[in-house]
Amino acid sequence: MTEKIQELRRLASMEIAAVQDLEDLDNFRIKFLARKGFIAELFDELRSIPSEDRPSSGKALNELRLFVQTLFDQRKRQLGSGSTKRKEMLDLTLPGRARWVGSQHPLTQTLDEIKRIFFRMGFSIATGPEIEDDYHNFEALNFPPDHPARDMQDTFFISEKILLRTHTSPVQIRVMENQQPPVRVIIPGRVYRNETISSRSYCLFHQVEGLYVDKGVSFSELKGTLVTFARQFYGSDLKYRFRPSYFPFTEPSAEMDITCFLCKGRGCRVCKMTGWLEILGCGMVDPNVYKFVGYDPEQYTGYAFGMGIERITMLRYGIDDIRILFENDVRFLRQFS
Ligand code: PHE
Repeated sequence: MTEKIQELRRLASMEIAAVQDLEDLDNFRIKFLARKGFIAELFDELRSIPSEDRPSSGKALNELRLFVQTLFDQRKRQLGSGSTKRKEMLDLTLPGRARWVGSQHPLTQTLDEIKRIFFRMGFSIATGPEIEDDYHNFEALNFPPDHPARDMQDTFFISEKILLRTHTSPVQIRVMENQQPPVRVIIPGRVYRNETISSRSYCLFHQVEGLYVDKGVSFSELKGTLVTFARQFYGSDLKYRFRPSYFPFTEPSAEMDITCFLCKGRGCRVCKMTGWLEILGCGMVDPNVYKFVGYDPEQYTGYAFGMGIERITMLRYGIDDIRILFENDVRFLRQFS
């Protein structure tokens, strides 16, 4: 009897060490502690041993049961606290896995930088719908019906009077409809044009529009603001020029060029041998536009400008095909992280 008790003590000690989860633990209990388990069997055997040995064997057996029960209780507590679950065993010597680090799209990066520069000059953000009506996209911007300037922008029409906006300028109108001067906003957004898709043009792209209207705003202020922007964006040694141009909603109108930073003005493929790159259109808000939004043209003057974000991004990074900006090829995008 004594040997059997000792044998069971050893066996229980060994098996409890192998218990990994609650299922193992329950098997342990059934094997040793249950009503038909090893220990119960020994208690049955007590009856058949000589009566003078019974008290000492009974005592030893009770101690065994207490011992095994303690093993069981301890293990149960450990498993319950989750400290030694099989799933949580870590091999700390394994090499780590590299993480994929995402990055912002180059267009977003360009836009963020443009925004930062204009925020510092006191501009705030305005936005408007991509699905526009003819009134905001054209008419209130001083494009009369049948005006040939409408052909400058190849429009996607949804119905006769509803279209995908061809520029961010309609948001100028929406801002002025809702607010009295002073108005000083930049308007980033997506625009659509029905052009033949090529390395230089896509059916959609992005613009940032600017609008400043107040008493006494002058053309020199427009120039100063845009030159300050361009110096911060392209570098302080920048050379620039303003060329007269035409937009129905500004008068006078101009386009701003900067010296080609690839050839430094000597002439190359990117600047088409001119030495200059056009970066934006601008001008003083045409008094006719004020009539549409109910501003008094005798009291207020203002300027507006608009630039294409794709174009600026392509020039900056030397990207020669606009379509790659819309393909979301990670091999391309990863270069901007
Ligand atoms: N909306 C014009 C375009 O898309 C750009 C522009 C904006 C010109 C504001 C002048 C003033 O070409």
